[in-house]
Amino acid sequence: MAYRDIHARSLADPEGFWMEAAEAIDWVKRPTRALFAEGEPIYEWFADGMVNTCWNAVDRHVEAGRGGQVAIVHDSPVTHSVREITYAELKDRVARLAGALAAKGVTKGDRVIIYMPMVPEALEAMLACARLGAIHSVVFGGFAAHELATRIDDARPRAVIAASCGIEPGRVVHYKPLLDQALEAAAHKPDFCVIFQREQEVAKLVEGRDVSWHAFQYGVEPADCVPVEGNHPAYILYTSGTTGQPKGVVRPTAGHLVALNWTMKNIYGVEPGEVFWAASDVGWVVGHSYICYAPLIHGNTTIVFEGKPVGTPDAGTFWRVIAQHRVASFFTAPTAFRAIKREDPEGRLLAEHDLSCLRYLFLAGERADPDTVIWAQQKLGVPVIDHWWQTETGWPIAANPMGLDPQPVKLGSPSLPMPGHDVRVLDEGGHEVPAGTLGAIAIRLPLPPGTLPTLWNAEARFRKSYLEHFPGYYETGDAGYIDDDGYLYIMARTDDVINVAGHRLSTGAMEEVLASHPDVGECAVIGIADPVKGQLPFGFICLNKGVERTHSEVLAECVNLVRDQIGPVAAFRHAVVVDRLPKTRSGKILRATMAKIADGEDWKMPATIDDPVILDEIAAALAEAGYPAVAPA
Ligand code: COA
Ligand code: AMP
Repeated sequence: MAYRDIHARSLADPEGFWMEAAEAIDWVKRPTRALFAEGEPIYEWFADGMVNTCWNAVDRHVEAGRGGQVAIVHDSPVTHSVREITYAELKDRVARLAGALAAKGVTKGDRVIIYMPMVPEALEAMLACARLGAIHSVVFGGFAAHELATRIDDARPRAVIAASCGIEPGRVVHYKPLLDQALEAAAHKPDFCVIFQREQEVAKLVEGRDVSWHAFQYGVEPADCVPVEGNHPAYILYTSGTTGQPKGVVRPTAGHLVALNWTMKNIYGVEPGEVFWAASDVGWVVGHSYICYAPLIHGNTTIVFEGKPVGTPDAGTFWRVIAQHRVASFFTAPTAFRAIKREDPEGRLLAEHDLSCLRYLFLAGERADPDTVIWAQQKLGVPVIDHWWQTETGWPIAANPMGLDPQPVKLGSPSLPMPGHDVRVLDEGGHEVPAGTLGAIAIRLPLPPGTLPTLWNAEARFRKSYLEHFPGYYETGDAGYIDDDGYLYIMARTDDVINVAGHRLSTGAMEEVLASHPDVGECAVIGIADPVKGQLPFGFICLNKGVERTHSEVLAECVNLVRDQIGPVAAFRHAVVVDRLPKTRSGKILRATMAKIADGEDWKMPATIDDPVILDEIAAALAEAGYPAVAPA
């Protein structure tokens, strides 16, 4: 069937469409229907079914005779190792780990925080939680102790599973001391911590609280899969919002299974048994959906890659991995390709590898700029597909369905809405705008299966952040337009979220950290365009009266503070001291105008500005820091 008919059917007959897709999942008890709209505008899917995620991702493939197929390849250039785990081995390993967690009291509904680098044990920890119906929350390794503590206090986990260390090029990331600091700072204390000791660094265990991954599994009974209700939370994943308090996106079990499974063939174009690789991190939604769950649910081989696109050891690493493991469909962020292109513009390293196995390249996490797409198309000779989604949705809102009915690629566009996503562009008043007109991108409710039903312990915030501005719609927080052919173009965020190397970060969170410095009176953080990372944060700092220390001293402390509090991933390295911040008469800081000045874009003097002279001072400060300044139009 043609893409457009399928999309239309998914909106006209969601019940029929999703019940049919649900056939591909093994149910303990089949749901009687797909959509549960009783709690409108909070919707649920497959709520009265009973199901287990781990069964669908692991056990059923072993039962079906695929136990010998490789489930996970760990390819780790930073430790110079490659290791494979078959589905049969994965089942044993996960059942034993789940058994050990159960023996220590973890049961259905308990939360478990996972703080691990790119090792297969991270996926095993996720799957072991799923096996028990425990709700995991994975925290990205590039976050510092304070961010981990915030998530511990919000999720209130019974246990934390962590690795002793992670490995970044040139340095060992000491996870265990970060975990100890976080637990010190957090008000909530988990019952116990499981520490996976890596040979690169063996961590000291805290007597009575910490157990070692291997020792605590000794002699335990493997656990069976615990059936859970369709709307049981599979996991919580925290993501950046406008403030320093991250949002705990809840992922419902059954919708997640059904939707992810649908995407593997229809969007990513792979058959069970083929190799799929998402070069992201398990700490992000891409890692949850497309390193761990979707490929395993669909019976693919997934690659856990512990390295970087460049420098581990060179810009040919991606090509080596694709060729060595015969990757059929590959997913990464445009920033990774920009980094490779900068190191090897001619793509010389490609010639050393046989990439005939590769059929598609998918890009997401940030807008795929046409230059990068064209470079990738020319070098790889396969379709390069930009697709758009968010932590909240868990799978693509817009994409090009390669395995269903490939559509023409339009540069700069993540193509067309995927099933169940009724995407509209609205003006400030919530009215739809004509094709080609920029506006807020919203999705008519209900969202399809697998998307967030709410935020963890924060339903009021969920309603306020996503549902109240445009009643009847989910507000994506992205702005853009739809062209005459229905193709979407995502142009900017409507909030203060920025995107640094495909990582979603909150400038509000960075401002909160900067404001905690004793010498800082006021501050603003904006995202400035960067040729490799897309955006980089940049701070403007007003010092308190009477501060006599040098600016460079205070600025260096500010940079360290953000690194210590949020983490290295924030990549906050540049800030300037200014006398005043530009504001509207009602006191709102004009961040968007400052960003336009920094990016050398045309900008207009805002009518509501309190004192226009301040923008000249900002432009001068930016010019001194090396950013172009264009006069207002
Ligand atoms: N654990 C600990 N620290 C981490 C980390 C992790 N998992 N990931 C990143 N960091 C650290 C880095 O070591 C670096 O620290 P430094 O300031 O000491 O150098 C800092 O966070 C910034 O890292 P990163 O943004 O990765 O920048 P980089 O310069 O090291 O690499 C790229 C640049 C483009 C190669 C890299 O950002 C990249 O591979 N991006 C792709 C991102 C991606 O896949 N995103 C997922 C969305 S789909
Ligand atoms: P995250 O929740 O970390 O996946 O980040 C989601 C945000 O990243 C979106 O709301 C967009 O702002 C941005 N984003 C992700 N994919 C794309 C894309 N293909 N094009 C443009 N922006 C994107």
